[in-house]
Amino acid sequence: MSTDTRDIYVSALRNTHALEMQALQIMERQVERLEHYPELTDALRKHIDETHGQRQRLDEALHSLNETHSVIKEGFLGFVGNMMALGHTPAQDEILKNTYANHAFENFEIAAYESLIEIGAAAGQTAHHTALRQSLDEEKAMAQRVHDLIGPVTRRYVELTASGAKADR
Ligand SMILES: [Fe+2]
Repeated sequence: MSTDTRDIYVSALRNTHALEMQALQIMERQVERLEHYPELTDALRKHIDETHGQRQRLDEALHSLNETHSVIKEGFLGFVGNMMALGHTPAQDEILKNTYANHAFENFEIAAYESLIEIGAAAGQTAHHTALRQSLDEEKAMAQRVHDLIGPVTRRYVELTASGAKADR
């Protein structure tokens, strides 16, 4: 049985919507807990705002096809969920695990948007191409910010830990 390319596109839009909902949860939880890493807090706050816009763009694309987003797809998010669980165990190095996981997550999102845009093109659905490209560009910028923060966050972690201070978050 063949599947209509439109249905493949709708499915990809829903998966990406579920991914953004997961992103919001992960980032909001981190922002609530962060104490010693203000640059990371700022980057996450900014990206939380952007992510609300990204979720909105996906909703608009779904609505224009007379579809809605579905409830969270566990199967799709299983991998990401496991990856993000890395940072959830309270530990002195929680900040490092979150940093690695954030880097992986943003790159996961980049792949998801590049694939989604490709699927849209294959399905002849280009109405939201520009909007989805904007989301992709935001993910790339956030991935770069997260990457650029690996050094500063790690140095601060070492400095705090070596001086006997709490450095976990
Ligand atoms: Fe993101």
